[in-house]
Amino acid sequence: MNSPFEPLNASTRFCAVYGYPVKHSASPAMHNAALNHLRLNWRYAGFDVVPEHLGAAIAGAAAMNFIGLNLTVPHKMLAMKLVDVVDERARKYGAINTVRFETNVNGEWKPIGQTSANETQKIRSHGFNTDADAIIRSIREDIGIHLPESRVLLLGAGGAGRVAALRLAEEGVRELWLVNRTASKVQELMKEINSVCPGVLVQIGYPEKKIELVINATSAGLRPEDGLPFEVGKFSLRNSGYAYDMIYRPAETPFLIEAKRSGCKISNGLGMLLYQGAAALELWTGVPSPIEVMREALKRNIYG
Ligand code: ATR
Repeated sequence: MNSPFEPLNASTRFCAVYGYPVKHSASPAMHNAALNHLRLNWRYAGFDVVPEHLGAAIAGAAAMNFIGLNLTVPHKMLAMKLVDVVDERARKYGAINTVRFETNVNGEWKPIGQTSANETQKIRSHGFNTDADAIIRSIREDIGIHLPESRVLLLGAGGAGRVAALRLAEEGVRELWLVNRTASKVQELMKEINSVCPGVLVQIGYPEKKIELVINATSAGLRPEDGLPFEVGKFSLRNSGYAYDMIYRPAETPFLIEAKRSGCKISNGLGMLLYQGAAALELWTGVPSPIEVMREALKRNIYG
């Protein structure tokens, strides 16, 4: 175990997650463990930011020489028009979950966390998406299935569902089934996938045959009173080998509890949170993130 951080002082630099609400977030626990391990005099905080103030909050962080930000619900799509530069992949997925502040040194933009503080004259915000690769890495490493051979049912076509669907299609899943409570969103999503990944078999609705994986990318399960994120008469979890929930708090949603009862192997969103956070930290520091330190901090935070 590392010795604790040096006390906050006038040289301490900051990172943060903005959300609304943000208090459920496990990101501060995960990132502060990593910053401590890397012996950086940085801290990672969480701020409740209402959507109308997101632009001002990003500009404020830039003005205060913050290293970077993570954005969570409901800010990821909104941020697309609020940062100075959007990374190509974030543009493709239409969502930003990581902002890196960059400073101009002799005409070249450099991550602010990788330069010395007296160089920070001009600052810009650069938006990235580290969620999309994180879901694929989590499915590969935590579940261990090979996506090009897999039939996948994805529940949800909101912000998180859209990113997951596009990235799963890019990965070349064997069949992708899409379901969303509001049908119009899923039709638009299918059109988009057909135009960017024409080779992938995408269908709207519930598969009747056996599939390898069902993913919950809806927000159903976050609140104690929530039920299952699909229509029970139309799909049985017995038909899926694995069930993956992007939600990590609660650690077992009604969806995962029912999936376990139905014989599925299950995984919650801890892995996705971990890998998106590790990639964000690497964008800020320029050095490899201490994955196992971050995983242990998340487990302590989520499972107690
Ligand atoms: P996020 O960024 O977390 O994806 P979002 O964009 O608000 O948040 O999307 C929430 C998703 O959860 C949507 O797919 C939503 O369905 P609608 O598009 O019909 O609103 C889905 N969702 C929320 N509550 C749900 C419920 N009780 N059952 C099924 N789907 C639900």
